[in-house]
Parts: sequence; C-alpha cells; structure tokens
Amino acid sequence: MKSRERVIFVCKECGADTPKWAGQCPACGRWNTLAEKSAPRLSGRAAGEPRRLTDFSSAVVPLASLKASEVSRRPTGIGEFDRILGGGLVPGSLVLLGGAPGIGKSTLMLQAANRLAALDFPVLYISGEESPEQVRGRSVRLGAENPSLLFASETDLEKILDAVRETKPRALVVDSVQTVNKASLPGGPGSVAQIRECAAELLHLAKGEGLGVFLLGHVTKEGDLAGPRVLEHMVDTVLYFETEREDVHRVLRAVKNRFGPTNEIGVFEMTGRGLAEVTNPSALFLGERDGAAPAGTSVLAALEGTRPLMVEIQALVARTAFGMPRRQVSGVDYNRAVLLIAVLDRRCGFSLESQDVYVKATGGIDVREPASDLAVCAAVASAAADKPLPARTVWLGEVGLGGELRSVPQVSERLAEAAKLGFQKAIVPASALRGRTGPAGMEVVGVCHLSDALQRAGLRS
Ligand code: TYD
Ligand code: MG
Repeated sequence: MKSRERVIFVCKECGADTPKWAGQCPACGRWNTLAEKSAPRLSGRAAGEPRRLTDFSSAVVPLASLKASEVSRRPTGIGEFDRILGGGLVPGSLVLLGGAPGIGKSTLMLQAANRLAALDFPVLYISGEESPEQVRGRSVRLGAENPSLLFASETDLEKILDAVRETKPRALVVDSVQTVNKASLPGGPGSVAQIRECAAELLHLAKGEGLGVFLLGHVTKEGDLAGPRVLEHMVDTVLYFETEREDVHRVLRAVKNRFGPTNEIGVFEMTGRGLAEVTNPSALFLGERDGAAPAGTSVLAALEGTRPLMVEIQALVARTAFGMPRRQVSGVDYNRAVLLIAVLDRRCGFSLESQDVYVKATGGIDVREPASDLAVCAAVASAAADKPLPARTVWLGEVGLGGELRSVPQVSERLAEAAKLGFQKAIVPASALRGRTGPAGMEVVGVCHLSDALQRAGLRS
C-alpha cells in the first residue's frame, strides 16, 4: 500500500495540530488561527506491518546492561542558588527561570554567570530585552567583570546557535525566552509556537554539546499560559523567583528538578549592588512578629503542592451580640473550622458557644489540609484566652473529634523548612515523631492530645 499525504490543521499561535478544521483552536482556544498544512503519513510502514526493531532510536537492550550516567555539577558559588539547583549547574541541562518582570531574574543570572566565568566556566549571555549598554550598566553595578563572561544582544535563534558554535561557552543564558525568534516559523516572538520551538532547539543544543542553558521567562501574576509555563514539561529544571509582598526579599523555588530537590527555597535580598544571599531568612520572615506576636496568631507549616510553606493563622474571639454565635472563616475550610471550634469547646473546656469566632489564613493562601487543624485550634484558643502563643513556634497536626492528634504527611520536610526560616520549636503529634528528632536547632515536642498541646503553650481554658 502506498503512503498517502495527510492534511492537518496547525494553529499559528500555539503550534498545536488537529486533523479537522475548526474556527477555534482546541488547544489554546484562540479563534481563526488554524491553517491547513500537508503532513507526511505518521509512519512509512504500511498499516498492519509490524515495526522492525531497528526502527527505534536506540538499540533494544536489557536496561540493566546500560551504564548509568553520572551527574557532574558545576557550583556557581552562590550558595542559595546552588542549593536550589541541587548542588550546581548540570552540564547539558536546561533550566527555566521564571518570574514577574522586575523581580530580579536578569540580576541573578548575571551574577551567577559572572561567578561561573570566574571559575573557568565560560558563559555566553544573550539578551534580547536590553541593549548592550544597559546590560553593561548592570554589570558595572554588580561588579560582573570577568573576561570569560561573553555578551551579545540578539533575538534571532539561528544567530544565537551560531554564536554558541563559534565561541564554545560551557553555559548559555537566554534573556528572555519570550524575545527569541526563529524566522522560519509563524507567529511573532513570544507566541507559544515560537517559545516551544526555540526551546526545543536550545534543548537539542544543550544535550548535544553538554552545554548548561538558562532560559529566563516572564510570568505574570496570573500565571500567563502563553508564557514559559508551556516549557515546564520540556526542561530539566523549573525555578520561579517570587516575592511575597512588595519588599526587598525574594524567594527562589524549584517546582521541578530532574537533578535535585524541589522542596528547598533560596532567599535573596535586593540591594544596591545586586542580590545578596540571605542565609538566615528568619530575620526577614520573623522580623515583624519578633517579640510581639499578638494573641490569636499561630504559625502553620503547610504544604503547597509538595512544597512546605509557613502560613500565619489568625483568630479573633468576641462575645456574641445577638443569640446565634457567628463563625466566619477565610483561607481555611469552613466546616473544619466549625468542627475544631466544637472540639475546643467540648474537649478542652473553652466555652465558645456564646462567642463569635473569626479565623483567617493570612497572605491570601488557602489552607485546606487537615494538617492545619492544630494551628487553627492554637490560634482560636490563644484568642479566647487572650494570651499570645510562644514565639517562633510552629504547629502541625490533624485533630480528631475526641481532641486526639494524628500524624500528617511530610513532617520532616515541613520542620526542615520551618527550622530554615528560624522557627525554634514545633508542636507535633507524638505519632509523627516515631523516634525521629527534629532538624538541628529546633526543639520538637510530640503530644497526644489537643489539651496537652495547649497546656504546653501555657493556655488553659
Ligand atoms: P532585573 O534583574 O532587571 O529584573 P527582571 O530581569 O526579573 O525583570 O531587576 C529589576 C529590579 O532590580 C529593578 O527594579 C532594579 C533593581 N536592582 C537593584 O535594586 N539593585 C541592583 O543592583 C540591580 C542590578 C537591580
Ligand atoms: Mg530582565
């Protein structure tokens, strides 16, 4: 049977293809972007004919007979950055660094590139965003002066690839992936089709030449899908640079890492001379709570996906004005909060039946996991007793209807993060400890019952 040409429809914006024409692209939802294109049949072999073994990209062999590759790493010397990378840059890997415009991506990369260059690891920095003079201005400010740090202003992908072949750097920085553009492709720079194709070619280059590649990308607060997020599945490592509030400190997180952990954070401070590592972030995070955490606040070591995150829980207890007590809750599950208030009332002797109770997770974060129970109870009990909880303490545990505490997932990871942020004490369910001790510098107290936990915090009904 002779192979026939197929007709497919390709979206000019996102590059998705579909066998049938439609007014709206089924992948990205844009209108009137599908154009007809002829495509070869999926495979040269006739239908029904078995695929030969030699058709595979590599020989078919027992997996156990293969030699495992050893990951060698090149630390940049910026400790907070290296830890997120899993110990340093892996040659041949593709790292995506995303973040809101102005967060400090270019600053961080220029500093890291200069450090690598100084360690005999030449880096080519390509900027499609800023002029050479602008980047030089930043490099003077940062003291990024190493002669092995090469720079070019360019947006054309082919020229970037040529420059790499010619100058043979060990690492490449592309700032940003939204400005790179392959002339032969439809769609302007920044379109999904362009971003995807350019990243695919850079990936090929990285793997082929053993080149470490950093792709910088802007992500808006809404997590703009047309942006670098479409690359998350292709690259080896995805880092996001963010800030909780509009202040000087910046948090770098890995959301994916084929060569390292994803539950670490790196904390930086933006100074007049670039980003400085904050090796003891507690000073920043706890600064405003130092000494004077008011009654009714507790800190929970929550999990956001697989990443630990400290969340402050606030509670307010006030006498009910009209018959029915109010329960108003935001950022915490309503039914759970009502249940926990009942447990405090019935099992721990806090009389809340004629009190209004307000509970809130701060920072606009939704905490839905049962692990937040103990922190919610502690905040409400502290508000009811009008007595602050001990400082620098995290609360973690699920509370049962009898007031008993149950273990929660990933206790060690959460405590490690809390310790890193400067918390010195943790109250956890005894069953979560199972002979384990907490991270260095942290006292971990295991308790069996909610009233035990509250008593240890000096709260009595
Ligand atoms: P930049 O790295 O350009 O951000 P991005 O590449 O993510 O868009 O940094 C932007 C901000 O950082 C800008 O507002 C200026 C500030 N900044 C400093 O405060 N100190 C410095 O030394 C540098 C280089 C930048
Ligand atoms: Mg920039």
